[in-house]
Amino acid sequence: MVKKDNLITGVDIGSHAIKVCQLQKTGTTYKLIAVGSAALPSGAVEDGVLQEPLEVGKALSALLKNLKIKNKKIGISISGYSVIVKKINLEEMEYDALAKYISAEAEQYIPFDLDDVYIDFQKLPTKKEGTDRCDIMLVAAKKEVVNDYLDMLNELKLNTVLVDVDGFALENIWETVSGRTENVALVDIGASKMNINIISEGVSVLARDIVVGSEQLTDQLANALNVDYLQAERIKLGIVPLEEHKKTVENIFNQTCTQWVLEIKKAIDLYLANNPDQPLRSIILSGGGAKVNGLKEYIARETGLDVIAFNPFTTMIIDNKNLDEQYLATIAPEMAIATGLAIRSATF
Ligand SMILES: Nc1ncnc2c1ncn2[C@@H]1O[C@H](COP(=O)(O)OP(=O)(O)OP(=O)(O)O)[C@@H](O)[C@H]1O
Ligand SMILES: [Mg+2]
Repeated sequence: MVKKDNLITGVDIGSHAIKVCQLQKTGTTYKLIAVGSAALPSGAVEDGVLQEPLEVGKALSALLKNLKIKNKKIGISISGYSVIVKKINLEEMEYDALAKYISAEAEQYIPFDLDDVYIDFQKLPTKKEGTDRCDIMLVAAKKEVVNDYLDMLNELKLNTVLVDVDGFALENIWETVSGRTENVALVDIGASKMNINIISEGVSVLARDIVVGSEQLTDQLANALNVDYLQAERIKLGIVPLEEHKKTVENIFNQTCTQWVLEIKKAIDLYLANNPDQPLRSIILSGGGAKVNGLKEYIARETGLDVIAFNPFTTMIIDNKNLDEQYLATIAPEMAIATGLAIRSATF
C-alpha cells in the first residue's frame, strides 16, 4: 500500500484564473496527479481581494470536479496590499519568547492595526557567527481579506490548512525542483501584477508587488483597435491574424514590455546597491504574462542575466495520460505558484 504523504491541494486564485495542482511524493521527487486552471470573470478578484465569492466558488468547485480531486485539504496564497512581509533583526530568543515579543511589539513594524491582521513569523537561517542577533521574516495579512477567502472555501466544504504568500510559494517550488542555490530574481508576471522576489544566499532579501501585468496589453489593444475585451485577448494571444494592425500591436507590446523590464531592472539595481558582493546569476520567469513572445530574450539582453522560463514539472513523474509534455510546458509558467502550494503537507 502507498503510504499517504498528506500533501495538500494547491489553489492559486489569481485575477485572471484559478490554478489547481495536486502532487504525490514519490521518493525524492513528486508525481503530478492533476493540474488545471479555470478562467475567472473580470473583476471577481481584484488587487488580491475576493470581490465575487460566489463566482469564484463556482469556478473552483467545477475545476476540482473536472480534475477529479477529492483531497479537501487545500492551501491558498495571498498577495497585494493586504499582506506585508518584513524582515526584522532582533536579539536571539527562544521560539516562545519570540512569539510573545512579536505579538506585543509587531505594531512598530507594520502599518496596520494589530487587531485587524493575522501575524506569522519565521526565523531566517542568516545568523552570523559571534553575534547574538537574528533575522526574522514577519508576515501580516488583513483578517478581513483572508477571512473572505476562508469563508468562500468553507462554503465549498473545503478545509483550508495553509494560507501562504505568493512569493514564498514561488521561492519554495523553485528551490525544491531546481535544486539550485545561486542568487536569483524570481519574477512572476500575472494578469494584473508583477511579483519580484530576490533570493540571495537562500533567503528573500527584496520582495515587491507592482501593478503591471498582461491584462494591460489586453486593455490597450481593446482601446487602440476598438474591439471588445475577448477579441483583444485573442489578438494578444495570437489566435486571430493581425493583418493591418500588426504595427499597432507591436508598438503596444514593445511599450509595455519596456515598462516591465524597467521595473525588473529597478529592483535588481536596488538589490545590487545594497549587496554589491552578492551578484545575481539568473532571472526565473513565471506567470502567464511571462509567455509574451520574445520577452525572455529581451529581459536577458537588457539585464545581461541568464533568464529561465520556469517549468516546475520537468523533474516530476508524469503518468497521467491526459497530461502530455507539450501541454504541460505551455501551462507550466502560470502553474508555478499552485505547484509551490502543492508541495506542502498538511500538519493536521
Ligand atoms: N502567450 C501569452 N502572451 C501574453 N500573455 C499571456 C500569454 N498566455 C497567457 N497570458 C496572460 O497571462 C495572464 C494569466 O496569467 P496568470 O494565470 O499567471 O495570471 P493571474 O495569476 O490570474 O493574475 P494575477 O497574479 O496578476 O492576479 C492573462 O492575462 C493571460 O492573457
Ligand atoms: Mg498570479
